[in-house]
Amino acid sequence: MKKGRVFSGARPTGRQHLGNYLGAIKNYVALQDDYDCVYCIVDLHALTTMDEFEDLRQNTAEMALDWLAAGIRPAETIMFVQSHVPQVTELHTILSMFTPLGKLTDLPTFKEKVAQSPHNVNYGLVGYPVLMAADIVLYKTDVVPVGVDQASHIEFTREIVRTFNFRTKRQALIEPQMKNTEYPKVLGTDGAQKMGKSLNNHIELAATPAETQAKVMTMVTDPQRQRRTDPGRPEVCNVFSLHKTFSPNDVAMIDSQCRSAGIGCVDCKKLLAKNINAHLEPFRAKRAEIASDHQQVWNVLRDGAKRATAIAERTLAEVKDAVGLP
Ligand code: TRP
Repeated sequence: MKKGRVFSGARPTGRQHLGNYLGAIKNYVALQDDYDCVYCIVDLHALTTMDEFEDLRQNTAEMALDWLAAGIRPAETIMFVQSHVPQVTELHTILSMFTPLGKLTDLPTFKEKVAQSPHNVNYGLVGYPVLMAADIVLYKTDVVPVGVDQASHIEFTREIVRTFNFRTKRQALIEPQMKNTEYPKVLGTDGAQKMGKSLNNHIELAATPAETQAKVMTMVTDPQRQRRTDPGRPEVCNVFSLHKTFSPNDVAMIDSQCRSAGIGCVDCKKLLAKNINAHLEPFRAKRAEIASDHQQVWNVLRDGAKRATAIAERTLAEVKDAVGLP
């Protein structure tokens, strides 16, 4: 017996990197053992901050391929594209009537986005958390695994649910729990900022071994270690923090050899690249296999949408009934 339903959403950002993998995807995969999982590629949310219309279709397919190769099991897990189940937009409209406008404009996430792109403060951006709440409640979600940056949106969802159930005198919607999946922040190759595509400090899961090695060789290490003979400080080195994940058998040796200047940064990075490549080899083989059949990923997503629609239709019927829509 599974413990309930998990729902999570991620914007279609194309090929995923080590930060996405350690911070989210690994968790999505593990949760499948204990929960009925629904994982959604939120393309409508992506539209809220788009200046130029990037290739959403390509980015969706690349991300879905990464999820499948990493171990999402589409026979049990529902994996789909948000816009393929349009009931979410209808629920979004109904929920918006239960949402005080000031609550949306007070959210720290909204203020951040306004500061980032003051030229594009659109109506959809204000409603972003309402659409996210619709995602979550449409599938009668019990648990939402997200990072702490999303905590205010989950709290907002819980408030809408309480208001809706109270005002309609029904219990049509379920109040979800947040599951904080925060992994110690994965820094980019610059060793300073969070790994991300926009900063180009990322290492793609689907990169070739040579590309991976080239990226790893550019990584910033302990800035105090200027010469090969200087002792290093693993605790401030981002190469070392990745060794902790990818080199479980070498990590003690690297720690002591770095401190005693027994190993230099170049060799240390070569070892990291080798271990990342070994770790990702099964992922890359599986990804290539799935990608070789161009339609396969879209078939999976279409099938997921069909199964998601069945749940969505039921919830939406209850919601419409609760608000008295004829
Ligand atoms: N807002 C989330 C983010 O930026 C993405 C998202 C949309 C989401 N709908 C969701 C996450 C529903 C969890 C549940 O990361």
